[in-house]
Amino acid sequence: MTLDPSPDPRVRTSDAVRDTFDEWVRTGKADGMERRHKRLAELMLERVDLPADARILDVGCGDGWAARMLSPHVPEGAVIGIDVSGEMILRARRSCRDSSNVLFAPAEAETIPWAEEYFTHILSIESAYYWSDPSRVAREMYRVTTHGGAFHILINYYSENPFSDGWETEMGLRLHRLSSPQWARVFQEAGFGEVSTERIPDDSPISAGKTAEQLARREGLQRVGALYVTGRKPILPRSQRARPRPAANPFRILRRS
Ligand SMILES: C[S@@+](CC[C@H](N)C(=O)[O-])C[C@H]1O[C@@H](n2cnc3c(N)ncnc32)[C@H](O)[C@@H]1O
Repeated sequence: MTLDPSPDPRVRTSDAVRDTFDEWVRTGKADGMERRHKRLAELMLERVDLPADARILDVGCGDGWAARMLSPHVPEGAVIGIDVSGEMILRARRSCRDSSNVLFAPAEAETIPWAEEYFTHILSIESAYYWSDPSRVAREMYRVTTHGGAFHILINYYSENPFSDGWETEMGLRLHRLSSPQWARVFQEAGFGEVSTERIPDDSPISAGKTAEQLARREGLQRVGALYVTGRKPILPRSQRARPRPAANPFRILRRS
């Protein structure tokens, strides 16, 4: 399935997204993201095996709270967060100053600044529907994932959840409102196997101060649940795996020069 990246060639969707989320940081609107998304992320992560040496990429990491949460669980691995918003990245770096296995970079998910087959896990929470070109992001995710590695995506904005309808107008951004099978197809077409979708209801407490209408929408949204999409990059057949090369001895190389 090829998704139209932008209806208007004069508008770069990711520029508008970057400006919006830069603004969220400046105005304090980003402060509630951890509170709003953390419980769902925990419910998703209950389904994920995370070995101590996992190398995780968080796509659209926002202010880095998920990387901060994951860092102690992968002491022999690493968590890398990328986000199109420079303000989010600055805030993420400040909040993870004491984590030696965490790194953040300003980058678009459509061009992930990393080498092939590095990450064992790719996560993305409440970001995928903002991507200007989801098919391209899925191909990039496939490129940087190890064979046998997996992606895990969580989104509240998808067509089977009527309670998120209207977010596009509220945000003033062009969002991708796909169905569960459409999201699955985006990742299958990028090459991922074992792609599956599941709805995860959100049991987190709802913050006070909402109107009756806002409360009903939030309750509905959480009851229907977030869409969890996952899949795996197939393991290469033994015949295609590269033969392990003997480790280079740096001292021998130094002596030669
Ligand atoms: C609603 S926030 C969620 C942030 C974080 N994952 C969380 O759960 O709190 C969406 C984030 O995705 C980022 N984003 C959207 N489109 C992106 C793209 N194409 N490339 C990189 N980041 C993107 C935004 O800048 C924003 O920080």
